[in-house]
Amino acid sequence: MDQAGILRRVAGGEKINDGMDAASVDGDKKSRPAVRVLAVTSGKGGVGKTNVAANLAYQMSLRGKRVLLLDADAGLANIDVILGIAPEYNLCHVLRGEKALSEVVVRGPGGIMIVPAASGVQEMAELSRGHKLALIEELELFDEELDIMIIDTAAGINGNVMYFNMVANDIIVVLSPDPTSLTDAYAIIKVLKQNYGIRDFMVLVNMARNSEEAFNVYQRLGAATDRFLNLTIQYLGYLVHDRMVTESVRQQGLFSELFPSARASRLLGSIAEALCLEQTPRVHDPGMLKFFGNSVIDCNE
Ligand SMILES: Nc1ncnc2c1ncn2[C@@H]1O[C@H](COP(=O)(O)OP(=O)(O)O)[C@@H](O)[C@H]1O
Ligand SMILES: [Mg+2]
Repeated sequence: MDQAGILRRVAGGEKINDGMDAASVDGDKKSRPAVRVLAVTSGKGGVGKTNVAANLAYQMSLRGKRVLLLDADAGLANIDVILGIAPEYNLCHVLRGEKALSEVVVRGPGGIMIVPAASGVQEMAELSRGHKLALIEELELFDEELDIMIIDTAAGINGNVMYFNMVANDIIVVLSPDPTSLTDAYAIIKVLKQNYGIRDFMVLVNMARNSEEAFNVYQRLGAATDRFLNLTIQYLGYLVHDRMVTESVRQQGLFSELFPSARASRLLGSIAEALCLEQTPRVHDPGMLKFFGNSVIDCNE
């Protein structure tokens, strides 16, 4: 049975033996290249998720990866706004089943494929089970042409944010030296661990003054997750606070494209490089399957 088949059956309310599921999904993954899904999340807004997600997508595409950037944040600073594009269709049309993923995708810098956010659309407030299934099915159809999917998640810890993190193989938690950002990063890790069993997190400290400050922020978060959640978070790297980032947003472009020699751009390039070198996604269980198995109660349909 292929992965999509399993997902459809589980989403349709069928219970499948856990061990068997995992084996089938793993077996299927080995037989064809699976898309690696990276979720960029934070708990708190304004820490740089969108900028990190979009620039990572671009930098990874420069390194030969075929990247899909999915804007799951219907907030104000959408990826389309940041890039100055005005897409006709968006994620909402996919969720409603009105458009295929390929029909809403717009091309961005470096040829990255962008699924624009469903800005201000009611459906995005709470995704139903039908919406989630529609998206999974569309992603399945996209598998062949993609290496990496990067999801820019919304702030907060609501059901949609959890959903997009669950779909991911790897979760990048972005935080800044701001103490409230630290508590919000801790909160999202805690919920993902306690409610969904996720134990693997990568941490990116943004807007740091220097590497020492960034590493200190990571250590403080790591001390808390070690002690209270019994899990170890991985340090992915940091970006300095760089006025060229703000300038690029003003110019509606990506900082690493407009200002490739800026400090933030060079640091982000190294992070993209490291992620590209990591061949095997560290799948925290068959994520999508687990999602459908465990959190159907979150759905409102
Ligand atoms: N490394 C940075 N240096 C300076 N400003 C930054 C940096 N990262 C983000 N910003 C600024 O912070 C604001 C929020 O960034 P954004 O990516 O929209 O955050 P989020 O998606 O987490 O809400 C933007 O105005 C952006 O220009
Ligand atoms: Mg954002």
